[in-house]
Amino acid sequence: LSEKPLLGKKVVITAGPTREAIDPVRYISNYSSGKMGYAIADAAKNLGAEVVLISGPVNLAPPMSITTVKITSAQEMLDAVENNLEDCDIFISSAAVADFRCKNIACQKIKKTSDTDSMTVDLIKNPDILATVGHHQKRPKLVIGFAAETQNIEENALKKLSTKNADMIIANDVSDKSIGFNSENNSITIYSRDSNPVNYLNTSKKELGYHIINHCIVYMNGLNHND
Ligand code: PMT
Repeated sequence: LSEKPLLGKKVVITAGPTREAIDPVRYISNYSSGKMGYAIADAAKNLGAEVVLISGPVNLAPPMSITTVKITSAQEMLDAVENNLEDCDIFISSAAVADFRCKNIACQKIKKTSDTDSMTVDLIKNPDILATVGHHQKRPKLVIGFAAETQNIEENALKKLSTKNADMIIANDVSDKSIGFNSENNSITIYSRDSNPVNYLNTSKKELGYHIINHCIVYMNGLNHND
């Protein structure tokens, strides 16, 4: 077996949170650290792939020998993904993309006034990057998403598999603080269209990166056999 089974393959991975501006000094975001996505990128590179990592703002050093595109908002992430879809074989969406952004971004810092005790920010839906890639003209052969769930994990993961036209959905339970967002370890279940779910419990994100990439390799080998 080749030590670099992904040689000649291009893998595009999103990681980290997006930030949606409210005004020049405030934003809406989430607790994603980027660790999961960076670990997958590292595993893919070490197994021979050309990797493009599209990352939201995180405190991790850009990985060596990986093209890293830094973005801030969901719209910027979508643009960067679409710019890198040419000849892409595998797309993995591990970023925690903000589902909503502000309808209007204030040009100046929003001031509080003495007579207002509350304020309302109008939000509108962000584009769904995974679903866009899943239905894209340049759809990669293998499209993988995550499902960050706090309840009904299997049902929600299977729904995402079909609505986003993905080949695999990796579900993680983000209600448990020791796994999921900003932790060293994660527990995942990989759902795919035609095989049984596979679990990896309380495993380091670095090791999970290799398990996920190995699933990609098995999937791609299956496609080659069917050609
Ligand atoms: O970054 P870490 O701290 O290491 O944490 C890892 C993680 C918990 C963020 C990661 O494992 C994870 O679950 N990532 C997906 C988070 C998420 O946004 O899940 P979701 O169930 O809301 O979205 C489902 C899928 O659609 C995801 O693949 C997501 O990347 C994608 N999506 C969602 C919304 C959107 N507008 N565009 C998208 O592409």
